[in-house]
Amino acid sequence: MTTQEFLGKKEYTLHHQTVSESCPSNIALIKYWGKYDNQIPANPSISYTLNHCKTNTTMEFFADEPFSVQTFLAGQEEVKFAEKIEKYFRNIDQYLPWILQGRYIIRTENTFPHSSGIASSASGFGAIAKCLMNLDGSFSGETTGEESLRKASFLARLGSGSACRSLYGGLVVWGESQIKGSCDLFAVPYPNDEIHDIFRSFNDWVLLIHEGQKSVSSTVGHGLMNTNPYAERRFQEARENFGPMKEILANGDLEGFIKLVEHEALTLHAMMMMSDPAFILMQTGTLEVINKIWAFRKETGLPLFFTLDAGANVHLLFPDNGSEEQIKIFIESELLQHTQNNGVVKDVMNF
Ligand code: PMV
Repeated sequence: MTTQEFLGKKEYTLHHQTVSESCPSNIALIKYWGKYDNQIPANPSISYTLNHCKTNTTMEFFADEPFSVQTFLAGQEEVKFAEKIEKYFRNIDQYLPWILQGRYIIRTENTFPHSSGIASSASGFGAIAKCLMNLDGSFSGETTGEESLRKASFLARLGSGSACRSLYGGLVVWGESQIKGSCDLFAVPYPNDEIHDIFRSFNDWVLLIHEGQKSVSSTVGHGLMNTNPYAERRFQEARENFGPMKEILANGDLEGFIKLVEHEALTLHAMMMMSDPAFILMQTGTLEVINKIWAFRKETGLPLFFTLDAGANVHLLFPDNGSEEQIKIFIESELLQHTQNNGVVKDVMNF
């Protein structure tokens, strides 16, 4: 598969059009951290797509007007975001030849709190890419469901790497790996018949340890992998982790899953600490929560575990199979106190 497949080759008739799309966020289990030019990932990753944390976007296109982009986030005009989107549109015009031939008003809102520190770039670029493919179909008169979704994943990747995984539900793989059909240019759904039932219904409660802007952006963090002496070993390890992950997902080995997922989260943050300059995105509360989860698991044997994204918040993972009452009580009574404002976003993955 090459980028050639995605070049815009159709005939287009442009007209005024408004489209609306929604796209969920995702949380990686095997992490993407480090990339090459054109958003090619240094290693493959696998994620869960969430159900409730979403971005809803409406895009209005005014044909045959000078190219410009105006954006509104939750009703507030955001000039910085518009500049980012303009740059992104210029960058992808070979794949959508009509994209610079009009004016845009983009209105977008997240279903999760704006200041929560939950990354909105994955759901945000996912929703924008879906809107663009919707316009593309409308201007060309051709709507091809599966192909269009794949191209939306390809385009979302060029906006924010991990966004390409948000185009599909359930477990999703991005990057060349031993998973059938996987490649670096877009994401693919994990083979449905190779997933044990225990992994089809899972809770992800996000503890909002630190709300607001991160001290180091993902872009800078990815860049620091270029000079990290452990980077190559890390990329290799992530590729190797697909072996056990494949077996775990097929067998329903929850214990193996917990070990691997937590290891991946801690490795991501270890890479940050070993960057030059070093940086730490975890906060005191992050570490307190991790230690409490480990103590709880040791004491009760119940399957509560965590993953982290590039920030201080803790994603609490536990199966959604009806036996999680004790886990929920523990979270409310012991873990919530480590958040900033009793902040927790309760999401779930069902597929
Ligand atoms: O898509 P980006 O550039 O925001 O990078 C995301 C990186 C992690 O969230 C830390 C890991 C991942 O695979 O999503």
